[in-house]
Amino acid sequence: TPGHEQYTRNMATGASTADLAVILVDAGNGILTQTRRHATIVSLMGIKQVVLAVNKMDLVGWDAARFDAIETEFSQLATALGISHLICIPLSARDGDNVFSKSNNAPWYDGPTLMEHLETVSFVGQKTADLRLPIQWVNRPDHTFRGFAGTICGGRLTPGTAVRVVPSGHKATVKRIVTFDGDLDEAAAGDAVTVVLDREIDISRGDVLVAEEDRTISIADQVQAHVIWMDEIALVPGRPFVIRLGAATANATIMSIKHRLGVDTLSHEAVHTLALNEVGTVSLTFDRPLAFDCYADNRTMGGFILIDRFSNATVAAGMVEYPLRRATNVVWHTTEVNHEVRAALKGQKPACLWFTGLSGSGKSTLANLLDKRLVADGRHTYILDGDNVRHGLNRDLGFTETDRVENVRRISEVAKLMVDAGLIVLVCAISPYREDRNFARGLFAEGQFFEVFVDTPLAECEARDPKGLYLKARNGQIPNFTGISAPYERPEKPEVHIDGTSPVDVLVENVLKIL
Ligand code: ADX
Repeated sequence: TPGHEQYTRNMATGASTADLAVILVDAGNGILTQTRRHATIVSLMGIKQVVLAVNKMDLVGWDAARFDAIETEFSQLATALGISHLICIPLSARDGDNVFSKSNNAPWYDGPTLMEHLETVSFVGQKTADLRLPIQWVNRPDHTFRGFAGTICGGRLTPGTAVRVVPSGHKATVKRIVTFDGDLDEAAAGDAVTVVLDREIDISRGDVLVAEEDRTISIADQVQAHVIWMDEIALVPGRPFVIRLGAATANATIMSIKHRLGVDTLSHEAVHTLALNEVGTVSLTFDRPLAFDCYADNRTMGGFILIDRFSNATVAAGMVEYPLRRATNVVWHTTEVNHEVRAALKGQKPACLWFTGLSGSGKSTLANLLDKRLVADGRHTYILDGDNVRHGLNRDLGFTETDRVENVRRISEVAKLMVDAGLIVLVCAISPYREDRNFARGLFAEGQFFEVFVDTPLAECEARDPKGLYLKARNGQIPNFTGISAPYERPEKPEVHIDGTSPVDVLVENVLKIL
């Protein structure tokens, strides 16, 4: 169709794939919250061109006034959202009126039918002039050939183009552009190609080829972004996910929610979480620097999804607003007196012993006795106890799931610094969520982290009730109490699993033996 040709031309000049959206409303219902949500998402996706298909006009008797009212209301919303090209079409999909052929029922409407419009509209697409080739696959069938395969999502390249690899910064020149149908003299956005370079440089999946002199691509490990939350389980800031951004995959954490976008009024609302279908602005941290663009500049290079690390479900779709400079301007200083020197000076193998278990299970008692034994043996140690840390560093945190995630995250980061300083650190925190204990484990080198599960039955902890908290929890005076009104996820493969009802001196000997 003519529209398709136009579309193909746009693709060739670097326009992205989704440049027009059709939003369907029911003439009887008018503009619903869901319509506003769809329009908001469309605008976040950078789509400037919208067709509002006002369906089921037959059910409102092809009432022109009804259509005008819907058109007026939606136009205001579209203007507020920056949708610059809007057309509203009254139609009846059931009878085909104004879908393919002009309806006799709406003599007052002199615009195009839906299909006429879609086939003839010229797209106001995004044109990305800067070369972007995200590498999807390194093609290395034998030692004679090494090509980098991917789909160009911005600009163009020819044999002879000087390129740079980001984030690494290696430079090279394009030697050949290989496709299944033979070599090309030139390739542009939308082309799937394999590029051969003039020299051997290290490139892996997720790297991006840009023009050598390119200064517009961002390399950072923190961004501000819009996300659309798509999971039944509400977002908990602090939890790690897998991110797919461009062709790169990394671990990513939503550190904080700046605000939620109220879809009815487009207001910014302060919230602690995002529920299913909610749209928010967040700050996001990656576990390594990634190369990307702002979504407004290049949708492929600035669009991402977040994936749950265990279920593999896609929990959010997002768009990078801008890189956070605090990431690029803060560098990790490699100190000359390093971990090995500090450990050697103390004559010990630094480690983190992470005691997890219910309140009253005996974590602190056990850690204290163990600490005394280690110090008596001349070891350098420190205890990070949840209760104590909550008096200072974590004074701002309570016991909601979100706060516990942050509690454990801060404790693990502090423990990591202390282990780096050469200490044996004993952490005592209920740390009820498996995922958060795994996060802590992930911060340490192989063999440095020991999860010690102090396994004491709830009934026993409750009978001990050293701080009288279980009694209060049962009386409803303490909400979210672990074991009573909040979950405890038992460790699956702890390095040390101990029966918290055995005599504590026996337990200390057992842990020492394992160490
Ligand atoms: S954690 O779940 O975030 O790891 P943490 O170990 O720091 O908890 O703190 C637990 C201690 O806080 C308990 O030993 C208890 O003294 C106290 N506490 C107060 N309220 C609660 C609660 N709702 N649930 C669990 N512990 C609580």
